[in-house]
Amino acid sequence: MELPGLAAAALAVACLLLLLLLALALGRRARGRGRLPPGPRPLPLLGNLLQLDLANMGKSLWKLGAEYGPIYTVHLGPRRVVVLCDYGAIREALVEQAESFADRGEEAIYDRLFQGYGCAFCPWERAKPLRRFAISTLRDFGVGKRGIEERILEEARFLVEVLADTRGRAVDPAPYLNRAVSNVISSVVFGSRFDYGDAEFLSLLHMMTEVFRFTSTSWGQLYEMFSGIMNLLPGPHQAAFKHLQGLEAFMERKVREKEKTLVPGAPRDLIDSFLLKREQEKGDPGSEFTRRNAVLSALNVFFAGTETVSTTLRYGLLLLLAHPQVEARLHAEIDREIGRQRGPRLDDRRRMPYTDAVVHEIQRFADVIPMGLTRRATRDTRLRGYAVPKGTEVIAVLSSALKDPQHFARPDVFDPGHFLDESGSFRKNEAFLPFSAGKRNCFGEMLARTELFLFLTCILQRFSCHSPVAREHLSVAPALVGFSSLPPAYRICFVPR
Ligand code: HEM
Repeated sequence: MELPGLAAAALAVACLLLLLLLALALGRRARGRGRLPPGPRPLPLLGNLLQLDLANMGKSLWKLGAEYGPIYTVHLGPRRVVVLCDYGAIREALVEQAESFADRGEEAIYDRLFQGYGCAFCPWERAKPLRRFAISTLRDFGVGKRGIEERILEEARFLVEVLADTRGRAVDPAPYLNRAVSNVISSVVFGSRFDYGDAEFLSLLHMMTEVFRFTSTSWGQLYEMFSGIMNLLPGPHQAAFKHLQGLEAFMERKVREKEKTLVPGAPRDLIDSFLLKREQEKGDPGSEFTRRNAVLSALNVFFAGTETVSTTLRYGLLLLLAHPQVEARLHAEIDREIGRQRGPRLDDRRRMPYTDAVVHEIQRFADVIPMGLTRRATRDTRLRGYAVPKGTEVIAVLSSALKDPQHFARPDVFDPGHFLDESGSFRKNEAFLPFSAGKRNCFGEMLARTELFLFLTCILQRFSCHSPVAREHLSVAPALVGFSSLPPAYRICFVPR
């Protein structure tokens, strides 16, 4: 062989060797990263749309788990998402590797407005200071203390009064519950409650209810997959977005008003405290205490604190109509432990295991946020041997914990016994996760649980709940399930006891 020929052959061998080494290195790296959890094969663009039920996304994600295991990968249109669908998987990810799953994933309709700002729909780095601040400010304004209890009881008195005015007529309970619940969080966020007839208040409530409803429709779930293209088209998503903009405009006005009347050292509410913190951190260019975060965090807390609790109460009263024997036992416990001479107090809960169990069972059965809020991996992570690369979205199907047959004997039945032991004492259940878990769990949990107990006992101390339709015609199945699970519309008579 001539010299140039030899050189060419040597070069070819060297190239081959180099390619081989490269392939080996890449292979090792890929093995190091590991495989994503298994899952159904996606179609281009559509992802796994054809295997999913837009009318009940949580349930269809849960069903796929039966085929692929409690940790699997699914494609919601173009979005690749890792799904966790049993208590163990949720715990292993959100609690045991809390930092790794603390980023927020996509919530398309909200993201269009919030764009990564505000404490709820933002990345973990931004959420950290905002959450810390919100939690300590909620405490400053009485959450977890006597202060908020007084506020809830005052609001419950207004509620009971308007319910008494219905004189046992059959009414839709939604507007009554919505106004009372929203006024509690209004006091925290704005330092004042609204009159029940206030036109602006009614418009805010309407906007929140409509957005919440939209996210629970099939259209809302479709939007979660294809928001990019759907933003260019007309449809109910445009109306929902307009409502969100209306809510933002209201909050902008509120913040502006408060800026004008702010008194240093004397915050009246959450917005004031935020604005004072902004003053404090004025010189820090990295501070998250900006005007934009003030408006959008206040909106997060106001919205989250209204719809969730009022939907739970509305579901709860429907369940009591369908289970009069449960209502009778609640009445008996209220009469025995509180009586009729004084109003309920949070302290009473310790002596009222049955009521406590009913409130838990309402939350378990109602399953108001079935898929939680989408998370995202903050770093390359391993989960049961699978790889979850940084940035991967993660959905924890909370229903799969709340309705887990390993943890609840009759998961599809409304039975307060799920939270009682043989002696009738309250029994905790680790799979009770309506508020989710980990670093981004719901920080309104304490407030929500206080409201549910006090509103329910105040209503039942004064009224019996009757259904204008025969019990066998009452359905307790949700009417819409998407982001939220909403009970069917119904009417109820509040009959004085
Ligand atoms: C029955 C009532 C409620 C339920 C079922 C509920 C449920 C949830 C769930 C499942 C999450 C997602 C948590 C996660 O990603 O792991 C959440 C987040 C949140 N909740 Fe609640 N919630 C309720 C009441 C409240 C109340 C009263 C407030 C008011 C303070 C509130 C404020 C928030 C906020 C601000 C977040 C976002 C937290 C973050 O991103 O770090 N929630 N809630």
